[in-house]
Amino acid sequence: MISLTWYGHSAWQIDFSGTQVLLDPFLSGNPVAPLTADEAPADFIIVTHGHGDHLGDTVAVAKRTGATVIANAEIAGWLQKRGVKTHPQHIGGGFQHPFGYVKLTIAVHGSSLPDGSYGGMPAGVLISAAGKKLYHAGDTGLFVSMELIGDEGLDVALLPIGDNYTMGPDDALRAVKLLRPRLVIPMHYNTWDLIAQDAHAWAERVRAETDTRPLVMNVGETITLE
Ligand code: NI
Ligand code: MN
Repeated sequence: MISLTWYGHSAWQIDFSGTQVLLDPFLSGNPVAPLTADEAPADFIIVTHGHGDHLGDTVAVAKRTGATVIANAEIAGWLQKRGVKTHPQHIGGGFQHPFGYVKLTIAVHGSSLPDGSYGGMPAGVLISAAGKKLYHAGDTGLFVSMELIGDEGLDVALLPIGDNYTMGPDDALRAVKLLRPRLVIPMHYNTWDLIAQDAHAWAERVRAETDTRPLVMNVGETITLE
């Protein structure tokens, strides 16, 4: 059984039959986060890129919980120096972790770490577990090889729609057409005024123009995949 809880922005808690995986755990600086970094459970943490609103509370949560952090080799090296247990991967590479197979995919963005260190290439994340495929796009602009990611047969796509730093609603709609997921959930919007979007209006466009089912989640809400 897989359940997803949205912590706002691009932060997610995914429960894979009891194994807790945190994605982009931006909590303490996140004005809409429904819980604190002291409360978030984690067996694994996945970090898409080095920016503060994605790396977030990774160091604190990993040290408190003993979670293993999955990230690109540059971010993993930076975390290792801070005493965090890591599993480095890189773009195009997958590994069978206890909860599922995790592959890093491309994202068109930056990835510097909070202290200015080089954070390698930014990534998206493709997780295959319990017969389901989940794609978290990270921060990205639209790119045509989303079609290749879609060829994997996605059950769920988590896509940024906030504009300014990432795809906005128009390009995110084009992304849905390339990715062809069964379900799409928007993220990386309404955290701040700069990325304010009407997610329900976007969902209407997805419903009208694609075969994908859009779901606008509330922060703190949990859904279970059937
Ligand atoms: Ni970013
Ligand atoms: Mn971001």
